[in-house]
Amino acid sequence: MGLTYARSFLHYKLVDTEHLLIVEKNIDRAHSLQYNDKYVTATELNGKLTEADVVILAVKPQDFTVLSQQLKPFLRTEQLIISIMAGISLARLDELLAHHSIIRAMPNTPAQIGMGVTVFTASEKADLNLVKKADKLLSTTGTAIFIEDEKLMDAVTAVSGSGPAYFYYFVKHMIEAALKLGMDEAMAHLLVKQTMLGAYHVMNSSEKSLDELIASVKSKGGTTEAALNVFSANALGETVESAIIAAENRAKELSKG
Ligand SMILES: NC(=O)c1ccc[n+]([C@@H]2O[C@H](COP(=O)([O-])OP(=O)(O)OC[C@H]3O[C@@H](n4cnc5c(N)ncnc54)[C@H](OP(=O)(O)O)[C@@H]3O)[C@@H](O)[C@H]2O)c1
Repeated sequence: MGLTYARSFLHYKLVDTEHLLIVEKNIDRAHSLQYNDKYVTATELNGKLTEADVVILAVKPQDFTVLSQQLKPFLRTEQLIISIMAGISLARLDELLAHHSIIRAMPNTPAQIGMGVTVFTASEKADLNLVKKADKLLSTTGTAIFIEDEKLMDAVTAVSGSGPAYFYYFVKHMIEAALKLGMDEAMAHLLVKQTMLGAYHVMNSSEKSLDELIASVKSKGGTTEAALNVFSANALGETVESAIIAAENRAKELSKG
């Protein structure tokens, strides 16, 4: 995810390679980045970080407590800190970093191709200009939405943060069904992916509700109805809702540390 942001900033020329410092603790990976992409990389934190205007925190949440101790000596009060770590609250970031200009953001993986959605919130003391700056940076990976109420971040994590995996799961099972029905891999992939893409565009351009769109495909006693009846009999809709609620609960647990 950290690399996704680095690449987007370079792509949109918000930062040039000389001013981009990537801190990557894995020496081999750091070398490969430097060689392939000419980024300025470091295997550990150093004074260069103090010169940065913006610091993005993209380590796994469980690595943050250790990292925060190493990071703190290099931070300046004027810097903007953007955390994309799941489940680390603004209060915890403030406590561990003793810093006030903090943005907490939740992106998702389509950010890799500029099609992500990122929801972000700011610490109370962050001024409007910093929020605008964060908006500009986060928008390079897709849509960015500012929310005032941090409480919603766990729901955001469960819906859009984890959401791509739910979609891949459904696609995977549609492909498996197509294979069982005798299609080869190439045809199964093409048919399912193009169907999802086409249906997405209809959904996005139509004024019909989702129920009306479902009704527009099915006819009484027909094939679609036969499939939807199996979904209902197995409570697929309720299962999807329970799964997303479980993800939100897990996000809440992780937030408590
Ligand atoms: N993936 C998603 O869909 C998604 C969505 C929204 C938010 N996020 C958040 O984005 C963050 C990154 O996720 P990811 O999926 O990109 O994870 P990831 O691939 O594991 O990236 C984290 C990177 O941080 C490195 N790292 C750990 N400790 C470090 C340290 N002290 N100094 C420098 N680098 C260090 C890790 O190196 P090692 O591998 O060598 O430990 C790893 O390369 C997480 O906090 C996650 O919650 C992810």
